[in-house]
Amino acid sequence: MPATKYNIVKSSKAVKTPAYVKEIYGKIYENEKLCRFLDDDRIVSVMTWGLQNRLVDDVVKEISTNSKVLQIGCTFGKQIGAVAEKIGAYGKYVIEDVCPQQINRCRSKEIYQKISFQSHDASRPRSEKYDTVICYMLLHELPPVTKAKVINNALDSVDEGGKVIFVDYHKPSKWNLLRYIIQPFNRLYQPFAESMWKYGIEDYAKDKECFVWRKKTYGGRMYQKLVAVRQIPAYEKPVVKPSFY
Ligand SMILES: C[S@@+](CC[C@H](N)C(=O)[O-])C[C@H]1O[C@@H](n2cnc3c(N)ncnc32)[C@H](O)[C@@H]1O
Repeated sequence: MPATKYNIVKSSKAVKTPAYVKEIYGKIYENEKLCRFLDDDRIVSVMTWGLQNRLVDDVVKEISTNSKVLQIGCTFGKQIGAVAEKIGAYGKYVIEDVCPQQINRCRSKEIYQKISFQSHDASRPRSEKYDTVICYMLLHELPPVTKAKVINNALDSVDEGGKVIFVDYHKPSKWNLLRYIIQPFNRLYQPFAESMWKYGIEDYAKDKECFVWRKKTYGGRMYQKLVAVRQIPAYEKPVVKPSFY
């Protein structure tokens, strides 16, 4: 049975296409042919310097079967399929995006688990809570104010024990010579990407201390997986007034 039969799309109010999508990334995300090309696993592997499998496997390891997962933004390659398979038939997988073409592209993928797609701008707050939120390769596309809102809304979407998984660019180590290719490329085509080299994702978090942060880097520190787990608040002993007796 085609995967599209399962997948539903919900729209949260009117979603305006953000300026950075319209001006920079829309040329890719609204171009069906180009997206079909970029969705090929081999292309994604080349674009991630051969690291796609490791990045996706390490996200999948963080997900529990039957859990409730939110993903911010559609992605290319195998990532969505791999996560859907791990969640399984009894979990819940919601993917939100601002770009209708991307929602349609991902809906038509042959994924045999139910996915709920939502038209939603992740820089706007959401009311529902999730066990896990995935933010995969999105932050480097975002201008600073939007980035701060997306990060904090993601963190606000998990209760105690819940986690947010960020996978994105990271400042390469000084021995990594690919930096001399990546940096000029980013300066030409991805104006907000270099800020990922300057600031940690956790630096944007308003309640940083409410989370335990764990980071792993890949490919000479070119990419990072940063996991934020919301802490269970320390038990506060009730104040007992000393009795006269
Ligand atoms: C998650 S990134 C992934 C692209 C990346 N090159 C990859 O590895 O596949 C891009 C997606 O996020 C969506 N997006 C961008 N800004 C968004 C926002 N504020 N809220 C929700 N989705 C957004 C875009 O429309 C696009 O489909």
